[in-house]
Amino acid sequence: MWSEMKFTLNTFAFITLTCAYQDILQLTATDYAPWSHQPVCTEHLDAINSRLCVYTNATFSNGRGISIFTTPQIADEVAQLLPFQDPAVLASHGINPDDGPWYVQQLPGKGMGVLAKHDLHRGDRITAYTPYLLAHMENVLSTMEREHFLRIAIDQLPAASREHYLSLATIYGDPSVVVQDVVKANAFEMQVGGQMHLAISPETSRMNHACSPNAQYYLAPDILTHFVHAARDISKDEEITISYSPPYKPHRARQQYLLDAFHFTCSCSRCRNGEASDMALEEIDALQSSLRDWSADSTATVKQAETLIQKYKEEGLEAFLDVAYGYAALTYNAVGSVRGTKKYAKLAAEAVTLKYGPSAPDLQMWTELERNPQGHSSWRWRKPVK
Ligand SMILES: *[C@@H]1O[C@H](CO)[C@@H](O)[C@H](O)[C@H]1NC(C)=O
Repeated sequence: MWSEMKFTLNTFAFITLTCAYQDILQLTATDYAPWSHQPVCTEHLDAINSRLCVYTNATFSNGRGISIFTTPQIADEVAQLLPFQDPAVLASHGINPDDGPWYVQQLPGKGMGVLAKHDLHRGDRITAYTPYLLAHMENVLSTMEREHFLRIAIDQLPAASREHYLSLATIYGDPSVVVQDVVKANAFEMQVGGQMHLAISPETSRMNHACSPNAQYYLAPDILTHFVHAARDISKDEEITISYSPPYKPHRARQQYLLDAFHFTCSCSRCRNGEASDMALEEIDALQSSLRDWSADSTATVKQAETLIQKYKEEGLEAFLDVAYGYAALTYNAVGSVRGTKKYAKLAAEAVTLKYGPSAPDLQMWTELERNPQGHSSWRWRKPVK
């Protein structure tokens, strides 16, 4: 009750100010550049040693708009990013297109889902969108305080974006905290200015979870974009899915994770075949342990590496094949097979790009291994081919 009263007063004070000084505010609007609205801030928060403010650019990316609830320092860093420095960069990278190879449809027993408009191949881009809202992760503010600021963030977006945001799924269904409810049900984590933020881009949020997803996503903070690519071939009208949970969690832990974090009971095929999928995970784990044994008495073989890849595919884990391809590349190199090494180093490079984007940490290593197998420390480490 106390906090609600406080908000009413704050809001009232702000409205009065806006009316009284409207002319001045209009004259000085560019002072907030690249923000289109005057930032609205919390008080200093000791726990994060800063204020948090709402920053909106309502014309961002051809009128899509973006609102960011973060510290003044991080807001300054965001303003330095390429999409703000060079507004043409998003369109020239095909980001925020009006249309894509997908459509949204109501699915029986599942709510909304995203389906393929036509056949897609592994590696094809499905979506690339900037978030409507980026919110600093914190547990300092009370629910009602946070709602007050996030509400401003959403209200300052252009009408179409605001409506799109508010049409997303919620978990609790309480209208007084709807903006946070949408965050809870739809957010992805994006690291901006060294700090985790929650990002909501509705096009991607519509994609449902599967433990054997046919698509993989990554967030690229440098261009503020959430990318999704096909992880295996997808047929026209097939549902496009991504995994909300780490792939190697055993059945029971995965169910609990999805229930705790997203409030749903997973019913995808790997969840329905809980026991069998746990056995497959154990086999994957045993193979990976063997393949990463670089000691003198290692029993790792290229056959194990091939079996590992097979297991990933059988389990529908194509989105995570970078790990299996990486083991295969190194295992072939360790027995001095240039052909096998090049083949799998190339596939590993493609797979890390699918999962982490062009700035993937291991990308350079796989590219280099493909170029020059003999130059890598794993070359003939185990035994040379006869
Ligand atoms: C909003 O951002 C765009 C870049 O996308 C920039 O061109 C524009 O000037 C910004 N708006 C304001 C009010 O600064």
